Amino acid sequence: MSWRSLHSSRRNTVPVLIASLACLGVCSLLSPGSAAAQIKSSEAAFEAQKLASDPALPGPEQPIPFSHALHAGTYKIECLYCHTGTDRSRMAGVPSVQTCMGCHAQFGGDLEGVQTLKKFWDEKKPIEWIQIHRLPEHVKFRHNRHVAAGLDCQTCHGPVQQMHKVHLVPDRVWVNGMPAQKLEMGWCIQCHEAKKASIDCLTCHY
Ligand code: HEC
Ligand code: HEC
Ligand code: HEC
Ligand code: HEC
Ligand code: HEC
Repeated sequence: MSWRSLHSSRRNTVPVLIASLACLGVCSLLSPGSAAAQIKSSEAAFEAQKLASDPALPGPEQPIPFSHALHAGTYKIECLYCHTGTDRSRMAGVPSVQTCMGCHAQFGGDLEGVQTLKKFWDEKKPIEWIQIHRLPEHVKFRHNRHVAAGLDCQTCHGPVQQMHKVHLVPDRVWVNGMPAQKLEMGWCIQCHEAKKASIDCLTCHY
């Protein structure tokens, strides 16, 4: 199954109710009683959006200038809240429009990026996010096994909670005197050797 079809088939799996409940924690930061906090956070969001669409920053320009620094950094929304598949399946997956709307049906409508989001929602279209990390088809990778082994997302993806635009963080390792970049075979092998995980060819290849 391709990443795109998985992405769209997961569109309806997160009930709005759960989204709204989890939103309470975040939204309480923006409770009506704290007008000052609300103005400040909107400014932060506005700044985040400008940075997220800055072509000079690494990372591709996405259909919506979505900022991890704002969502996972400032508002501390859990990675797994949006990447629901990560601990259960091969794929981490990106959140459905519905997951976003669990919060943004209620607030943020004055922000340009959120208005674009609502357009996708109204037109019932999935957002075609540009994928950044991608292995060739002949390689097996399972997020759940790595998460179960206690590895943080940041071990492999870098400090995503500080990124306005997600990008591939360079990470060069050496295996048997040969250099390997992130996502290359040597990168996987180096950690598997260090952590005593299998380096059998069939562990990673079909
Ligand atoms: C758990 C709640 C929550 C969820 C889920 C959520 N957001 Fe947000 N988002 C926020 C908060 C809080 C702000 C700041 C709003 C403000 O300052 O008025 C924000 C701001 C934004 C902004 C404006 C600032 C910026 O960085 O561009 C955009 C665009 C945005 N969100 C897009 C999304 C998208 C796309 C999704 C789904 C992938 C999503 N949000 C999911 C809470 C959430
Ligand atoms: C509010 C929802 C939300 C939260 C919380 C969130 N993400 Fe994301 N994430 C997204 C969306 C939407 C995309 C696709 C757009 C993009 O690349 O920015 C994405 C993309 C990514 C990608 C790139 C995927 C690819 O294409 O290769 C990584 C890696 C990632 N997130 C890791 C994390 C980590 C680590 C955390 C916690 C620190 C986190 N995310 C928290 C919504 C979220
Ligand atoms: C052991 C390293 C490792 C860890 C730990 C890890 N990832 Fe990944 N991630 C990868 C690799 C490798 C890919 C490319 C997978 C592919 O193409 O099949 C990827 C792809 C992704 C993608 C885009 C493709 C997809 O599977 O949907 C997202 C989103 C993502 N990771 C988020 C996360 C989040 C969130 C966490 C923590 C809960 C996490 N990752 C933990 C290595 C890792
Ligand atoms: C930062 C360390 C780290 C990196 C990088 C890493 N892995 Fe792993 N991987 C592990 C650990 C630890 C396990 C063992 C988990 C267990 O015992 O269940 C594992 C297990 C696996 C498994 C499951 C084995 C099984 O028995 O089902 C596969 C498949 C796998 N890794 C593929 C990859 C691929 C492909 C890459 C590179 C794209 C990679 N890994 C990168 C640490 C890593
Ligand atoms: C821990 C995971 C892992 C193990 C174990 C592993 N590989 Fe790989 N292999 C990868 C990844 C990831 C790629 C794709 C990235 C790249 O080409 O470097 C790859 C690519 C390759 C390629 C290149 C294919 C191409 O398109 O050029 C060959 C050939 C290969 N592996 C053979 C092997 C053999 C033979 C073994 C056993 C001695 C092995 N691999 C063990 C992860 C692994």
